[in-house]
Amino acid sequence: MNHLYYGDNLTVLRDSIADESVDLIYLDPPFNSNATYSHLFKDESGQVSGAQIAAFDDTWHWDDMVSGQALIELRDSPYQEAAKMLDAMVGFLGKNPMTAYLAMMAVRLVELHRVLKPTGSLYLHCDPTASHYLKILLDAVFGAKNFRNEIVWRRYDRPKGSQHKSRRFGRSTDTIFYYSKSDNYFFNSDSIRVSLSTEEIEKRFISKDENGRFMSGPLLRSDSMGSRPNLVFEFQGYTPGPAGWRMKKEKLQEIFDRGDFYFTSNGVPRRKFRPSDEPGTSVDNLWDDISALSAHDQERLGYPTQKPVALLERILNASSNPGDVVLDPFCGCGTTVHAAQKLGRQWIGIDITHLAINLIETRLYDAFEGQAEFTVHGVPQDIGGARDFFERDDKTKKEFEKWACGLIKAYPQGGGKKGADGGIDGLFRFGPAREHTAIVSVKGGKNVGVAMVKDLDATVTEQKAAIGVFLTLTPPTKPMLDWARGAGTFQVEGFDPVPRLQIVTIEEAMEKGPRAVNTPLRHGNPYKRAAREEDTRAQGALDL
Ligand SMILES: C[S@@+](CC[C@H](N)C(=O)[O-])C[C@H]1O[C@@H](n2cnc3c(N)ncnc32)[C@H](O)[C@@H]1O
Repeated sequence: MNHLYYGDNLTVLRDSIADESVDLIYLDPPFNSNATYSHLFKDESGQVSGAQIAAFDDTWHWDDMVSGQALIELRDSPYQEAAKMLDAMVGFLGKNPMTAYLAMMAVRLVELHRVLKPTGSLYLHCDPTASHYLKILLDAVFGAKNFRNEIVWRRYDRPKGSQHKSRRFGRSTDTIFYYSKSDNYFFNSDSIRVSLSTEEIEKRFISKDENGRFMSGPLLRSDSMGSRPNLVFEFQGYTPGPAGWRMKKEKLQEIFDRGDFYFTSNGVPRRKFRPSDEPGTSVDNLWDDISALSAHDQERLGYPTQKPVALLERILNASSNPGDVVLDPFCGCGTTVHAAQKLGRQWIGIDITHLAINLIETRLYDAFEGQAEFTVHGVPQDIGGARDFFERDDKTKKEFEKWACGLIKAYPQGGGKKGADGGIDGLFRFGPAREHTAIVSVKGGKNVGVAMVKDLDATVTEQKAAIGVFLTLTPPTKPMLDWARGAGTFQVEGFDPVPRLQIVTIEEAMEKGPRAVNTPLRHGNPYKRAAREEDTRAQGALDL
């Protein structure tokens, strides 16, 4: 079963994930690589802030309540090597943003080690800002003998330009540390072989016949390889010398039956190697064949640190089997869970920001046409919880709005900001090629009135949208319903007209999900894939 948790991964790991229950972990923790390096090492021993560190914030500060506590917890844990290492790092580097970050990571790495099965693996994605310290921590938690690779992921093949003369080399790589929990770990190198490119095929397979490209290959062992009496036999009228054939008779027969056995003009038997005989190139630790997502990539959702699915597919294929459990404790907009769902793995995703959870729900709903099954933990499960969530949310109510949009699988807009966007909290598309837009306005307050519905009406007209959805925690008043009823309908050809303004209560949305809104063809017409892909590109351009 698949699980999506909204919350701090340390709490979720400790409360909800059993020992040795996970086959593969990928983590891509936040790190503010833009912070100046020297700033990260600024001594903060004098500053004790009572405020909680916002863990999802990617700037770090040493705080005895959090970082110091992490150190104390480690000293009391079975992970004594990790405790000693973190102590040493704090002693050497001081109490500063870097050690605050390392303390945060250390307590989580020991939990990740605990939940990993003995045959499991962990991949930690980071950049040069802290990679050297993270590797030492990983050595302390996993044991240096369980270090398998430092993968260098070349994100860009062209360094970004700058008007300033650079005083160092360009940076175009990330680091992914790969550790196993023991020596008895699962790894399938064949599953990640890379097929030859067209250029490579053209370069290597230079000959052509009626069956396509080929290159000539030997069938006979050379004399220097020594005698092999069992490989000396007659085939197609030819009997080799004492060194024999390169393969058994059955294999030769297969090659012959495919039409790939031939004699040279000198009467020497040879074979034709086809591109399809090539198993693909094995993958080493330099990954330069997967690019970071560009602004126009179809899979781009606007989440700032989103990684490409292809990167995760490679990791999952190498280190897990279908049915295995894959965990991403910093899952962001859900690249790992997307890849896991696609490849038939079970998955667990954890993220501390509600936007991430909302995006993942919508992303999976779109990508797997509502078929991906998973349980969401840590968000309101009933109307009482929803009211509580609204009350507890900060005064912008952004988290609440994002959550509400997620109920009907709408993409939140501009973080729910008001003003220039005319109160558009979310949107989604529908229709044969998903060419029609629905605008969502979320209201959590007790005082809802007809003026708000009129505003939405005006926004729908202004934005040339097809319909407007008024999503409200408080039941609508009669004047609101009357206005919506009088606002006309929208029709998709071949379907009944639907109300142009739809008032949906949060309670209905919690119960029915996207079906609470009356829109035909939420997943588009499967026969119009091309247009739909175009639409996905447009979704990628949303300002999330
Ligand atoms: C670099 S992003 C991950 C991006 C992800 N790999 C993707 O492709 O979308 C890091 C994520 O970690 C989350 N995060 C930070 N601290 C966390 C914590 N303590 N518990 C859970 N999630 C956390 C952030 O909200 C952010 O979404």
